[in-house]
Amino acid sequence: MPNYLKVSVNTVENISIEKTTAPKEKPNANGIPFGTYFSDHMFLMNYDEGQGWHDPRIVPYGDLHLSPASMVLHYAQEIFEGMKAYRSANGEVLLFRPDENIKRMNSSAERLCIPQIPEDIFMQALKKLVELDKDWVPSEPDTSLYIRPFVFATDPHLGVHASHSYLFAIITSPVGSYYPEGLNPVRIMIESEDVRAVRGGTGYTKCGGNYAASIRAGSRAEAQGYSQVLWLDGVSRRNIEEVGAMNVMFKINGKIVTPALTGSVLPGITRKSAIELLKSWGYVVEERELPVDELVQAADNGTLEEAWGTGTAAVISPIGEINFDGKKHEIGGFKIGTLTQKLYDTLTSIQWGKTEDSFGWSVKVC
Ligand code: PLP
Ligand code: COI
Repeated sequence: MPNYLKVSVNTVENISIEKTTAPKEKPNANGIPFGTYFSDHMFLMNYDEGQGWHDPRIVPYGDLHLSPASMVLHYAQEIFEGMKAYRSANGEVLLFRPDENIKRMNSSAERLCIPQIPEDIFMQALKKLVELDKDWVPSEPDTSLYIRPFVFATDPHLGVHASHSYLFAIITSPVGSYYPEGLNPVRIMIESEDVRAVRGGTGYTKCGGNYAASIRAGSRAEAQGYSQVLWLDGVSRRNIEEVGAMNVMFKINGKIVTPALTGSVLPGITRKSAIELLKSWGYVVEERELPVDELVQAADNGTLEEAWGTGTAAVISPIGEINFDGKKHEIGGFKIGTLTQKLYDTLTSIQWGKTEDSFGWSVKVC
């Protein structure tokens, strides 16, 4: 069996905990910028060929020591996840569909030849780390504790092949809105030169390389006042795929249209949840090829009623303008649409434990 498909046998090893002796001051969570502050502890676990995953441990948050020859620094053998812990009104701490993130991490691992992470250790690590740092889960409206699990290749070796050793880490960060706009509509630039991913590549995984390839177009878009890039498919360059850090959905003539998961798009967990909610409300949801020409035409003839992005960091984010080939197309009068607002309200009510979770998506930590 190839190394990257082997699951380590030590799936019940206990996680050791070393508490910090110097807890940090917590930032004011009002208007807190995304991904800037980090909590007191982090989870680490090593993998070595012949030994499997070993030494699961929670330690004080701090710098890592790496060989400059570590393979990740040269060939980007790395994957990550993004999820959140939410503080409910009665003080509980909840995770949202963590099993989905664990599954997607292992799907990314398979593509990047990284050994599978035992699901039970992953779940235990998430719960223990968040419980230990529970005071870092903010309670201000629209804030949460962002959780960033990641794995990278540590072999000090310059040959191009799968590493024989890895580090799995989880760090956490109290956050507010991803976009400075909050729930106000964002402007999105449709990118027609650079491509992010192609079928057969790594587009469906969360690997750092996908994001590295996206930075040039993102910077160009930002320089022109756009929040992010909307990618077209890498072959015909005619079909809508996804935005830099979120999937996209459009309400066209009463129906919901979203690009199908063809291998070059990230299978978003917020996307999946939004589709389940929309279907439960009786909407027709079409997961299909969506040509950019159809979208632009719908924007111009008024049948594009609403557009929004879905993502863990971005939540449900209204899109008020798209720019394609230098032409601006306004959507919904640059206001948040009724359905976008309903999706945002319903999803966030479940995530923050304000309404009954009839889908069974929330997992209580403490
Ligand atoms: N697409 C990309 C490229 C992303 O980085 C993200 C964020 O994780 C998403 C989509 C949305 O995925 P999810 O809803 O699982 O956070
Ligand atoms: C997330 O939504 O969790 C993401 O990973 C987006 C990120 C690249 C900021």
